[in-house]
Amino acid sequence: MPALVVLGLQWGDEGKGRIIHSFSRNSHYVARYQGGNNAGHTLVLGKGETLALHLVPSGIVYPKVQCLIGNGVVVDIRSLKEELETLSARGIKYKNRLWVSGLSHVILPYHIRMDKYLESQKGKIGTTQRGIGPAYKDKVARVGVRVLDYLEGKTFEELVAHNMREKLAPILEPAAYRSLEKEIIADARHLRTFLTPLVADVSKILHEALQHRKRVILESAQGSFLDVDFGTYPYVTSSNPTASFAPCGVGLGPRSVDQVLGVAKLFTTRVGEGPFPTECNDAWGSQVREKGGEYGATTGRPRRIGFLDLTMLKKSVRINGVDRLALTKLDTLSGMGPFKVCVGYRWQGKTLTEFPDERAALQQAEPIYKNFSGFSEDVSRVTQYKDLPASAKKLIELTCEFSGAPAAMVSVGRQAGNQIILDKKFVKDWL
Ligand code: IMP
Repeated sequence: MPALVVLGLQWGDEGKGRIIHSFSRNSHYVARYQGGNNAGHTLVLGKGETLALHLVPSGIVYPKVQCLIGNGVVVDIRSLKEELETLSARGIKYKNRLWVSGLSHVILPYHIRMDKYLESQKGKIGTTQRGIGPAYKDKVARVGVRVLDYLEGKTFEELVAHNMREKLAPILEPAAYRSLEKEIIADARHLRTFLTPLVADVSKILHEALQHRKRVILESAQGSFLDVDFGTYPYVTSSNPTASFAPCGVGLGPRSVDQVLGVAKLFTTRVGEGPFPTECNDAWGSQVREKGGEYGATTGRPRRIGFLDLTMLKKSVRINGVDRLALTKLDTLSGMGPFKVCVGYRWQGKTLTEFPDERAALQQAEPIYKNFSGFSEDVSRVTQYKDLPASAKKLIELTCEFSGAPAAMVSVGRQAGNQIILDKKFVKDWL
């Protein structure tokens, strides 16, 4: 059976969680391949009940699904424990079905301190302040602490002493520094008991699963334009949400991925600092934010709102090798009046048909828009494409044509069933 990558094509918060949640009912394994607890997926479980996940893969609500955290993820052990305790309290069991790669790197309190410190300085990124950047920085600088290192008491303590001396001595008073070091060591002694039974060879588990033709979902966090290589650098996260990194982030080879499903909202949102050429700081933006509940699932920050940017989607489709699109939140646009869709840019006398990478272009380029009259019909109960308002159909058609990928589905409401399936063949293994 196939391995399917599900990822976001914009700046995150595209609604990946709901898609993975509904696809994981028929999957055997769901594995996260990058990011950490900076992510926030809100699942709607029915009867208005919601569940916010940060690090745990979205398959966790189905008892038969095995959930894996791959080597590409950075893990805050204390926060993982809290998330699992919350799940347990809601009757969701994780023992013998949630596994963490020994090769994942660990986020420690000094990473969080450093993230907060950097965010208090000039040139902040608007991070989630979960220690993500500093943890990935240590990984690449070869001074990081892997889960396996965390479990080896002496190695761990030596690494902590070395790293803290390097990073925190300049920004913390000696007493605060010593007490933090003590706290980290004491915490680890206690958290090892929790962590040890969860550690597994994720690569081997998934390799065997695919050999036995099991259905595997590789779950991304954040979005393609937050990718450290392809995003709006430096206003990006410190990992690679793009699809090619999915097999690498769980220890599989490149040929293990059969399908790539790209999730995109039919408008655009972004959290934190950074360029956003189609941003709408006006009444339309505020109305969309309120109607769509566009507030960060992890930090509660109001999301910045803007028009759909098809040049972004076109690039995302290319860099991710997207086979099909899952378009989300069509219902949010209903009753919002006319809206626009960006189909190019004007910059330095030239017309750009691709989303630019230059810092100057991202600040100065002027979007070229196509106008839509909008629609006011309630689309949340529509199950057939033919029953959508003409303007909504036009929007979907233009999105597919411009981006170069057909849509497999369109979501029209919060509940898992509020969706229109456009490509039954593509989704048949999963829904
Ligand atoms: P970091 O990942 O916490 O370092 O934050 C870097 C940037 O990525 C900031 O702009 C964050 O707001 C953004 N970011 C991180 N995680 C998410 C997410 O799950 N959804 C949307 N934006 C995110």
